[in-house]
Formats: sequence, structure tokens, C-alpha cells
Amino acid sequence: MRIRGKEKVPGLLAAAHALLHDPASGMLTWSPDCPAYLEVGCGRGTFLTTCATRQPEAQFIGLDKYTPIVARAASLALERGLTNVRILDLDVERALTVFEPRAFDAIFLNFSDPWPRRRNDRKRLTHPRLLTIMAQLLRDGGVLEQKSDNAEFFEWSEEQLRVSGWRITSVTHNLPAKAPEGDEMLPRYVQTEYEERFRALGIPIHHLTALPPNPA
Ligand SMILES: C[S@@+](CC[C@H](N)C(=O)[O-])C[C@H]1O[C@@H](n2cnc3c(N)ncnc32)[C@H](O)[C@@H]1O
Repeated sequence: MRIRGKEKVPGLLAAAHALLHDPASGMLTWSPDCPAYLEVGCGRGTFLTTCATRQPEAQFIGLDKYTPIVARAASLALERGLTNVRILDLDVERALTVFEPRAFDAIFLNFSDPWPRRRNDRKRLTHPRLLTIMAQLLRDGGVLEQKSDNAEFFEWSEEQLRVSGWRITSVTHNLPAKAPEGDEMLPRYVQTEYEERFRALGIPIHHLTALPPNPA
């Protein structure tokens, strides 16, 4: 994702300082009684901040490894007056240096880069190496949710989940844009920036939920 107005990034980061967590300052913690959700690759933060607005009692954490995007996400959370959001400029590879194991009730992977070339498969966020980290981050009963426009990447992700011992509990290949009655509060129906673009082009959206393997 490329971004215009890079010269604004230092100012945006400074203004949204209270919502950013510097990974160098150590672990990020909150009350264990507080529901907590992580979006990996949160982009500009539309999904995260919409979910956080709807659920003020929960903690929403967004990770992205691209600093200009982190600045936009933090500034959106600031604009929306949210106090239950934290954004980190961090590669998910390093997540266990910042979060305790079993910190999250759900992890969201929304429109992760598909990295279509085979030689880049290690960069895909559903690579088994990263799934192992995500499994450690989920609480008992915690769930991974993935949305993607890319059928091939989605199918590859399903395969990686299975070989890594995850249990896929639901799959749909055409997630409706509008939540069915009674499901309005489910985060999967909150559209992300990428999702809006794909839906405008008529591309079907794939969605799955999966439970991690039982700890050894
Ligand atoms: C295609 S964008 C999707 C953004 C947003 N989730 C959406 O749906 O609009 C993928 C994002 O994942 C981030 N990303 C890719 N690999 C990452 C990693 N290893 N750790 C953290 N973020 C990552 C990228 O910087 C990018 O902002």
C-alpha cells in the first residue's frame, strides 16, 4: 500500500502519540477481564476504529509494519475520539515481544497481501510460521477470522491452517455486504478500505473462522 502526503507522517504520529504503543517500551497490557481484539495488517484503521466505536468496553489493537499507514490509522482513532484503541508499528513476526501469550479473543486478517509468487510465500500472513505465533496469542476459545478477495490465496490459507492443526469452523465464498438480521454486530460485516474497493468491482469476498490447535 503506497500513500500520499508522507511529509505529514511525523506530525500525525506526534499528534496521536497517546494511541501509539512503542514496541521498544515493552509489553502492552490491559485488564484480563477486558475483551481484546487484534487486527494484523490494519492498514488505515477503518475496520479497527469502527469495531472500537461499536464496542467501547473492549480493547482493539492494530498492527501494521508500514509506518505511514500506522500514522493514518492512529490519526483516525484520534479523530474518532477513541480511547480503547492502540496502534503499533510492528511486524507480526515480533508480536510475542509485545503481547503476553493468550492475550486476544480474536485475531483479524483482513485482505492480507496475497504475495502471488511462490518464492514469496513466507511473507503471506497465513504462513505456518506466523500461524504458530497467532495460535499462541489467542485465549481459550479465541478465533482467527480471515477475509480475502483472492480465491487462490484464500484456498492456500485454508490448506496452511489445516496442516498446522487449526480447525476451520466456517467458510463462505460470498460474504454479504450487509449483515443478515441479527448478525449486525459481527465484525466480519464491517468493511475495510480494501474491501470497499473490491466490492465496488463486484469481486466476491471469502471469509473463514478457525480455532487454533490445542496447546501441547
Ligand atoms: C492489503 S493491506 C490491507 C489493509 C486493511 N486490512 C484493509 O483491508 O483495508 C495489507 C496490510 O498489511 C500490512 N502487513 C503486511 N505484512 C505485515 C506483517 N508481517 N506485519 C504487520 N503488518 C503487515 C501491510 O503493511 C498493509 O498495510
